Formats: sequence, C-alpha cells, structure tokens
Amino acid sequence: MSDLSTTYLGLELRNPIVVGSSGLSNSPKKVEACARAGAGAVVLKSIFEEEINEELQKIARANAWYPEAADYVRSYGRQNAVSHYLDLIYKSKDLVEIPVIASIHCVSPGAWTEFASRADKAGADAIELNVFMLPTDTDLGPSDYDKIHIDILQDVKSKVDVPVCMKIGTHFSSLARMAMILSHYGADGLVLFNRFLRMDIDIDDLSLVPGNPFSVPAETLVPLRWVSLLSKSINCDIVGTTGIHSWKEVVKHLLAGASAVQICSCLYQNGVEHIGKLLSGVENWMDDKGFGSIDQFRGKLARKAERKATAWERVQYMKEE
Ligand SMILES: Cc1cc2nc3c(=O)[nH]c(=O)nc-3n(C[C@H](O)[C@H](O)[C@H](O)COP(=O)(O)O)c2cc1C
Repeated sequence: MSDLSTTYLGLELRNPIVVGSSGLSNSPKKVEACARAGAGAVVLKSIFEEEINEELQKIARANAWYPEAADYVRSYGRQNAVSHYLDLIYKSKDLVEIPVIASIHCVSPGAWTEFASRADKAGADAIELNVFMLPTDTDLGPSDYDKIHIDILQDVKSKVDVPVCMKIGTHFSSLARMAMILSHYGADGLVLFNRFLRMDIDIDDLSLVPGNPFSVPAETLVPLRWVSLLSKSINCDIVGTTGIHSWKEVVKHLLAGASAVQICSCLYQNGVEHIGKLLSGVENWMDDKGFGSIDQFRGKLARKAERKATAWERVQYMKEE
C-alpha cells in the first residue's frame, strides 16, 4: 500500500487532499463529513474582516456607555459572526482528528487581526488569510497592493503561534518576487490561487451577471504552472488549488511540488465522497509507477528558475507553424 501522508504548514496530514474554504465546511457536522470521506485537512468557511470589525465597533460603542455593556455585547453574540465562528472551530476540532484551518477573508490590515489570536486559542491548527483583492483602484500602485498583503501578514503573524498561510491572487506586478517576499515575512504557506468570482454578461438582458461559481479542470493549468515555478524556489509550502477535479490533477500538482491541494467545486458537484475516488486514483497511479510515498515524486517536475521558464515558453511559440 502506498503511503499518502504528507506535511503541510508543519502539520501531519494523512493525505494531501484539503477541502477548501466554502459552504462545505461551514458547520461542525459538514467538517465531520469531510473527515469521514477521507480529507487530509479542512479549511473552514471564511469569516470576513467586515464581520469582525462590526463586532469590534459594537464593543467600542458599548464601552463608550459603560464597561458592563461591553461585557454584555461580548457575551450576547450567539448570533454574531465572531462567536459563531469560534464555536465552529472549537466544535469541529472536537469532532475530527484531522487538522482544521481557520480562514479569514480580508482586504486590509487593522484591528480585526486581533481575531486571529482568538481563532488560535479556539483550537485552529493554522490560519489561512484569503486576501481578496482585485487591483482595480487607479489611485493605488503595485507597491501599495503588495504592502497591504505584507502588512496583513505581519499583523496576523505577530498575534498567533500557529502557522499562517496566505491564499493569493495572480494580480501582482511580480508574482514570483511577491511570493518570495511573503515567505520572507513569515508566510508558512501560499495557496495558489484565489478564484475570484467570475463576472459575465447577459446579452439578452444587457446586464452584468455572476459567472459560474464552479471551476472547470482546464483552470488548473494556471496554478499548476506557478506551483511548478515556485515550489523549489520559495521557502514555504505551496498548495495548488482551482480546477482540481480528478486524481490526475492531484498527481500533477504533487509532481509540480505542491505540499497539498485544495478542492471545492468537484465536491459540490459530486459530493464529499468524491474524496475517496481521488485518493484511490492517486494510490493506483503511485502503485503503477512504483512510488511508495509522496515524497518519492513530489516536485519531480518543479521548474527551477523563472527565467528559464520564460525561455522555454518562447521556444514553444517559435516551434509553432
Ligand atoms: C460556493 C463557494 C463558496 C466559497 N467560499 C469561500 C470562502 O468563504 N473563502 C475562501 O477563501 N474561498 C471560498 N471559495 C473558493 C474555494 O475555496 C476555492 O478557492 C475555489 O472554489 C477554487 O477551487 P475549486 O476549483 O476546487 O472550486 C468558495 C467557493 C465556492 C464555490
């Protein structure tokens, strides 16, 4: 039997299949279902920076009246997002043996980062920061966007003991350099990439409409390239995500050097039991190829330097008729 175990963010995973942050992990029961289906780890549904800030503002307002009011606001929140989220961490941890990663959806540094230490104390094994930022503001330059990512990371790192990973987009002037900088500032892992919700156009209605919320396998070629480019040159774990629907994409990301993969759309479409199919597919492939463990093939197809990669691509174009 092949050994599918791996390490991600210093955590021992029984296999590299991580359920990505989504509605699949927004309740302890669903987290338990993912674990039962064989997941190596689960990233919880994100809490949003705005939800955390809202509670902070409530406490600040209550404090302005009298201190007891602040306590009341703190203890009040069964229905408030923060206590609900801490409960989600705590109860999920109680139900499953696999690592549970908290996720924070954010766009700016600030007071909300205090929440990360509460997530740490509630038992989260790691924190994933989903910096959800499309660089559309013409008043901000590339270094401004870079700085926001770095400031968020530094703020959160200073408040927690658990590992911190960042789920990023592709929209950087220098993606490889940014990945290196984030690892330099303490990112324990980078998740490549965020899938921004697609915008589409309804040509009958002449209106903007949301695109398909679910990915297709072809989308994985973009993160796959970057996993391959960065996994050997960046000093932190790299996770591939987006468009991983079958065991073949899992194998490709591992060959490119991923520590693990995150999946979401394929579970929405096939149910969490699909994890079992992915695992047996990877296992059969490993048996066929004679690999006894993931470390025997992980990163075999990682590329070393971006410069060579560019040269390689240019040559592919030159060869075209
Ligand atoms: C319905 C739905 C909800 C999602 N919610 C979150 C979220 O709260 N936080 C987050 O970081 N990503 C969220 N995602 C993005 C997924 O975690 C993942 O990055 C994305 O779907 C790409 O992976 P896939 O191709 O396997 O679907 C969501 C995706 C879907 C489809």
